[in-house]
Amino acid sequence: MASMMRVFLILLWTTNVVQPNVPHAAGVQVFPPVNFTLTVSALAQVLLRWKPNPSQEQKNHTIRYDVKILSPVPEEYDTKKTHSIRTAALHNGFSARVRTLLLHNDLQMRSDWVKEKLPPPPGAPETSVTNLSCVTRITISSTVSLHCTWLPGQGAPEDTKYFLFYRYETYTEECQDYIKDKWNRNIECRFSVTHIDPEEVDSLIVIHINGSSKYAAIKPFQQLFNQNAIEKVNVPRNVTVFLEQNDLLATWEKPISPLPKECFEYEFYLFNLKSDIENILKRLQIAN
Ligand SMILES: *[C@@H]1O[C@H](CO)[C@@H](O)[C@H](O)[C@H]1NC(C)=O
Ligand SMILES: *[C@@H]1O[C@H](CO)[C@@H](O)[C@H](O)[C@H]1NC(C)=O
Ligand SMILES: *[C@@H]1O[C@H](CO)[C@@H](O)[C@H](O)[C@H]1NC(C)=O
Ligand SMILES: *[C@@H]1O[C@H](CO)[C@@H](O)[C@H](O)[C@H]1NC(C)=O
Ligand SMILES: *[C@@H]1O[C@H](CO)[C@@H](O)[C@H](O)[C@H]1NC(C)=O
Repeated sequence: MASMMRVFLILLWTTNVVQPNVPHAAGVQVFPPVNFTLTVSALAQVLLRWKPNPSQEQKNHTIRYDVKILSPVPEEYDTKKTHSIRTAALHNGFSARVRTLLLHNDLQMRSDWVKEKLPPPPGAPETSVTNLSCVTRITISSTVSLHCTWLPGQGAPEDTKYFLFYRYETYTEECQDYIKDKWNRNIECRFSVTHIDPEEVDSLIVIHINGSSKYAAIKPFQQLFNQNAIEKVNVPRNVTVFLEQNDLLATWEKPISPLPKECFEYEFYLFNLKSDIENILKRLQIAN
């Protein structure tokens, strides 16, 4: 028994030297996928595609693929499919690898990785915008407005013209309403109406800002915002204040929002001009 074992181990070792890249056991070999490609399919969106290795025996084995996103945000998952879509800011490039995973009886075997990357888009250093900040608001017509501000890059020439685009799911639109700095560079943008769904608070909003200049290539910039995190609550509606004898009576109504009134709390600042006394009442719930 002991000598048979030794023979088996030696055989395995010899085979590995001959074909170091193809792990196998029980006569089954695992080959890496082929034709792995990355394609930008929308703003800040990458389509990963690969093909099963033609040498890979399919028969009774379960084939899956391990996908590892290396940058910009590391992520690892496995899939039965031969494609996958990822949303990520692409201004610093994107890189990923994929390998074949073969499940045979209780055995799990992995091929070598195949690696692919998207280079960062061209542009001179420090020309992309910085300090991008965006807020959304629910409008009276139950649509969502979007407002973004940014600073021109330190290395952006004075003639730099920035262009902002937002993408929400499959819809992409360029800003038509910019506000400019003293050098006439766009530094702020407003969309009074967007395709953003006010009910889908967990969805992502992609912002893409590129630009042009006679003197330098402007590096694009992308950022993903969670709608939840950037929604700005509207002000209370129909605020009234009046005196009844010596009592001050204030009334207000829930701000424009798809959320029910139980979700809101209010802060009430009362400033007495005569006495200079400031009263702040916090965490008030709306009265029925
Ligand atoms: C991989 O790509 C090459 C070149 O485009 C093509 O000839 C080949 O058929 C592809 N292989 C598979 C398995 O699709
Ligand atoms: C697949 O498995 C079945 C039963 O487990 C067996 O009869 C068949 O020969 C296998 N096919 C191949 C190609 O190995
Ligand atoms: C821009 O962002 C940087 C780094 O986050 C910060 O230090 C700086 O104060 C910001 N500038 C302005 C004008 O907000
Ligand atoms: C900016 O990005 C948009 C959307 O990808 C593209 O259509 C446009 O050509 C770009 N403009 C410049 C100046 O790079
Ligand atoms: C606010 O007041 C106006 C005029 O009094 C009224 O038409 C409107 O319905 C009120 N808004 C709400 C949300 O009740």
